[in-house]
Amino acid sequence: MTAAALEIAGLTRTFAGPPAVTALAGVDLTVRPGEVFALLGPNGAGKTTTVGVCTTRVRPTAGTVALDGIDVARAPVRVKQRIGVVTQYNTLDRACTVFENLYYHCRYHGWGGREAAGRTGELLAQFRLADRAAAMAQTLSGGLAQRVQLARAIAHRPSMLFLDEPTAGLDPQSRLALWELIAGLRAQGITVLLTTHYMEEADRLSDRVAIIDHGKVLVTGTAAELKQRVGADTIVELQLERLDDALVARLEALPPVRRVHRGEHGLRVFGTARDGLIPPIVEAALPYGLADLRIHEPTLETVFIQLTGRELRD
Ligand SMILES: Nc1ncnc2c1ncn2[C@@H]1O[C@H](COP(=O)(O)OP(=O)(O)OP(=O)(O)O)[C@@H](O)[C@H]1O
Ligand SMILES: [Mg+2]
Repeated sequence: MTAAALEIAGLTRTFAGPPAVTALAGVDLTVRPGEVFALLGPNGAGKTTTVGVCTTRVRPTAGTVALDGIDVARAPVRVKQRIGVVTQYNTLDRACTVFENLYYHCRYHGWGGREAAGRTGELLAQFRLADRAAAMAQTLSGGLAQRVQLARAIAHRPSMLFLDEPTAGLDPQSRLALWELIAGLRAQGITVLLTTHYMEEADRLSDRVAIIDHGKVLVTGTAAELKQRVGADTIVELQLERLDDALVARLEALPPVRRVHRGEHGLRVFGTARDGLIPPIVEAALPYGLADLRIHEPTLETVFIQLTGRELRD
């Protein structure tokens, strides 16, 4: 067995307040070397606090984090040399150029001038930033700024990379471009822990996912494993003008239906399509002012809804 790249055990963090907040309520996680691991959860779940402890920025109340076997709380300086971090907010030096942001990062990590300049040139090419080398960081679009932050995070060749909501707020095109770059890093063998509240991001990028909510990991596995847990191959979402318990009971009694979840605007029916799922559902729902119907396979969001009764996005 290879040692874990990251081992989080019994991690708790409370903030005194007022009001007192339990940001982490006992998190256990293992990230294997070379994998992209996604921490998927809604706002306030504890994603940034988890990353904060792993990257030595936040002190835990209890529990331990070991990175390549090194205790993060005991040896923060050694850990910092081994990790790259992209925080949730832009931390580029706004008054420096793209080139300088990368170059000075290498210098800060003890590289000589020639090596730092060489590495910067390499990164500008890898992240398709060469034509922006002389641009001031403050003039960059959100997508470009994230690319520079990602390039800077790996500049000193860390063994592990932490990406806290790397594509939050980006337009779809920039998001896709960043996904490609992150997938490229994986191919280079760097271990990645990324946090996100986009289920599609976790699904597309990660080898394994942990779903986190209220400071607790609810479930861990590959996206396929987690979706399998739903125990249904088809989700039918019904938008209805009215809703009552009788309808829920009637749907639940249909043989191909496994479960029915009641949401704010309608129902989610979990079922198996091979048994002719849709016609009896439509028949039951029509008298209730069926406004819309959507059919999809289980997603990580479905898994989250099943575990918490809530949706990922507020
Ligand atoms: N410095 C702090 N002082 C007090 N409460 C805090 C502090 N940092 C985080 N919290 C609280 O801890 C909980 C977890 O916060 P955290 O930032 O880790 O969540 P998150 O999953 O990153 O959320 P988001 O999606 O909004 O970034 C939240 O309730 C938050 O308000
Ligand atoms: Mg956060």
